[in-house]
Amino acid sequence: MVGSAIVRALATRGFDSVTRSRDQLDLCNQQATNHFFAENKIETVIFCAGRVGGIHANSTYPAEFIHENLSMALNSIHAAWQHGVRRFLYLGSTCIYPGSAPQPMAESCLLTSPLEKTNEAYALAKIAGLKMCEFYRQQYGAMFHSAMPTNLYGPGDNYHPENSHVMPALIRRFHEAKEAGTGEVMIWGTGTPRREFLHVDDLADGLLHLLSLGDPPDLVNVGTGVDVSILELAGLVAEVVGFAGKITTDPSKPDGTPVKRTDMSLMHSTGWQAKIDLRTGIEQTYQDFLAKLEAGAVRLA
Ligand SMILES: NC(=O)c1ccc[n+]([C@@H]2O[C@H](COP(=O)([O-])OP(=O)(O)OC[C@H]3O[C@@H](n4cnc5c(N)ncnc54)[C@H](OP(=O)(O)O)[C@@H]3O)[C@@H](O)[C@H]2O)c1
Repeated sequence: MVGSAIVRALATRGFDSVTRSRDQLDLCNQQATNHFFAENKIETVIFCAGRVGGIHANSTYPAEFIHENLSMALNSIHAAWQHGVRRFLYLGSTCIYPGSAPQPMAESCLLTSPLEKTNEAYALAKIAGLKMCEFYRQQYGAMFHSAMPTNLYGPGDNYHPENSHVMPALIRRFHEAKEAGTGEVMIWGTGTPRREFLHVDDLADGLLHLLSLGDPPDLVNVGTGVDVSILELAGLVAEVVGFAGKITTDPSKPDGTPVKRTDMSLMHSTGWQAKIDLRTGIEQTYQDFLAKLEAGAVRLA
């Protein structure tokens, strides 16, 4: 999802990009990664590969989440440095901040208290990656730095029934309920937790902005700074999709942290802020979902 958005953003600005799918280059394979950087003269890397998923996937496959995310970061950052990459922008995530981080979450809360248990494996791997960038910059003077995106959504998202994030899961469930004429959709938990969502095209724009800075922060949040309750989000998605039935909650299911919102002061101070409002973003994402459905190309992994 992020990689495609970056390629779109680069294309509209007239930049060339070199991309590799996982089939063409497995970043967990150190030799193949070294070979790629040796063979291609890469100037700038935007590192958006990763093993990604929601709470279910994270807590079911922690071994794969740590192994794959750690090896991808380790192999890519080191090979990029060895082969003279001038700039490396690593993507972390605001999920790697401590479970009890003060809200809104500032960059300074990293590693100040224990991590959220459900995504500890993913968080540890991501923290290792961003710290590698920080240390390579500190010791070797390489311009390697990191961005922490909040929850993302947009074209190319994963609509897997169990492994997807909340936004695509809601889009799919409301769409299916509308098509089946179901009168009610139940959402997990109380619906009261508040979360923040950034359209992936805004993220791409923010990342290119960071790459334009001469002295970017080692680590900076990229979000909207605005949160919404899960019930409000469900209402908005239902409206956009055209589901007119009832939305109910299931308080027997876990809620997670009550509020998760990024402190956007640092990113705003560099002169960037998000532009796509939530309703417009959801409308555009739903149109993309419908087009993919029509083409039999909805992503399910
Ligand atoms: N989505 C979010 O809400 C969110 C929020 C914060 C941060 N992020 C971060 O942003 C980055 C991109 O996320 P995304 O949502 O765009 O996820 P995504 O759509 O699943 O993209 C991840 C990409 O990484 C590729 N990949 C996985 N393992 C690989 C490997 N061993 N070698 C090479 N490529 C590999 C995947 O290939 P396959 O398709 O073949 O698996 C996929 O193309 C990740 O680092 C993620 O942690 C995402």
